[in-house]
Amino acid sequence: MSKLPGNAGVSVLGDKSLEFYRDPVSFCQQRVEKHRSRVFQSRMLNRPTAFICSVQGMKELLCDKSNVFLKDPTDLMTNVYGDTLVTTNGEEACLLRLSLTTLFTGSCLQSSNDYITSVCERCLKDLSLSGQPECVYSTFKRLGTELVLGLFLNVRAEEQPELFQEIMQLCTQHWHGLISAPVNVKVPLWSSGFSTALEARDKLMDIIKDKLENDTQGFVGSLGSLPLPDSSSASQHLLLFISALIPKALASLLTSFTLALSGNKQTRQRAMEDPDYLRTVLLEVQRLWPPFIGGRRLADQDSTLAGFRVPKDYGVIYISHSVHRDPEVFQQPDDFLPERWSGRNAGQEHYLCSFGNGPRSCIGTKLTDVFLKEACMYLLKHYDWCLDPPSQDLEYKWLPVSRPANPPTISFTRLDQTRSDRSDTV
Ligand code: HEM
Repeated sequence: MSKLPGNAGVSVLGDKSLEFYRDPVSFCQQRVEKHRSRVFQSRMLNRPTAFICSVQGMKELLCDKSNVFLKDPTDLMTNVYGDTLVTTNGEEACLLRLSLTTLFTGSCLQSSNDYITSVCERCLKDLSLSGQPECVYSTFKRLGTELVLGLFLNVRAEEQPELFQEIMQLCTQHWHGLISAPVNVKVPLWSSGFSTALEARDKLMDIIKDKLENDTQGFVGSLGSLPLPDSSSASQHLLLFISALIPKALASLLTSFTLALSGNKQTRQRAMEDPDYLRTVLLEVQRLWPPFIGGRRLADQDSTLAGFRVPKDYGVIYISHSVHRDPEVFQQPDDFLPERWSGRNAGQEHYLCSFGNGPRSCIGTKLTDVFLKEACMYLLKHYDWCLDPPSQDLEYKWLPVSRPANPPTISFTRLDQTRSDRSDTV
């Protein structure tokens, strides 16, 4: 059993949180190269922390040893979203997952299909209308917001535009307060952004509670009647589900999809005609550009990861960007090769961690999958697209979600009716 490569520095002065937040990908790349190891240590949030950049390390952390490496109940997420599944451990987390997953599977998920179809149609039908290039990330974020507010709160932009607008603004204020908090301070009560966020949260909570009391339909209705640990649990989770984070993650994936396929007519044609090929394209999109950089755990006891000793109370962070480019599993790791998923990497989807992995993986994966396929199929059936202007700086930033730092613009050309009619019958 070896000591983790690197060093965890001295308290406060040795903290590397800011360096990490500035550019997490370079932070990890530099250290992986320096230590010649995809697992190393540094100091984050003023705590010695193991960084996991290998598939093997990620699998041990999130699957085999998930009872040793636990969620941090004092995470910033708790300050802003309250007590939710995200920061809960043990039996309580199991019970919450059991209850909540019923909302995202089976008949509940099925009944969302019509809404997903209609919201994609509404938000994507006019992409070529202005004749001007579209800022795709903003368009897709609006689509994601219409999806979550319509689905989770029964507030539809076309039916209640003012309420929709108000909630969207409150969610944004709430979110900006969360990220304005200094990264190394747990309860940043003096930050003005943070107090605006708390005000926005209170207003959102009033709207949510009103919905839970008076709306018996759809997701809100089902959530209201679920067995949950206490009376505030349903409202806290709704606050989480409608948070700005989910539309951002959806917009991140859709933006990466349109960029990967821009100007590539043959790949688009194939993805439109062959659902299995579209599946491999989407796997490759999430492999190369996972929306979230990763996740964090705390070691509840002395343990090991990938053969390295991890002492009790160490933090552990898995970096999905680096795990997904582990050359042990993914040959030519930086290349966009959808075919790998029907060849060498067939059946290895469980080596990805864009949606986490193991018993604490994302409960919204199926819903996201249905939504992404619908949105991507809509784009493929109705448009040709290319970067406009053709040369743009597409360098990615990774926080809070992955996307090009300079918002890319894309021109969409509507395909002629004959072709979309033909594809409707395929
Ligand atoms: C593109 C969309 C999404 C991405 C990329 C994503 C990603 C993730 C990731 C990486 C985790 C694991 C975090 C960790 O290991 O610490 C996670 C957990 C979670 N996600 Fe998602 N998610 C998405 C959509 C959704 C949706 C639509 C919902 C539900 C409304 C949702 C609800 C949750 C919850 C409740 C957890 C916590 C699960 C637990 O701790 O047991 N996510 N998600």
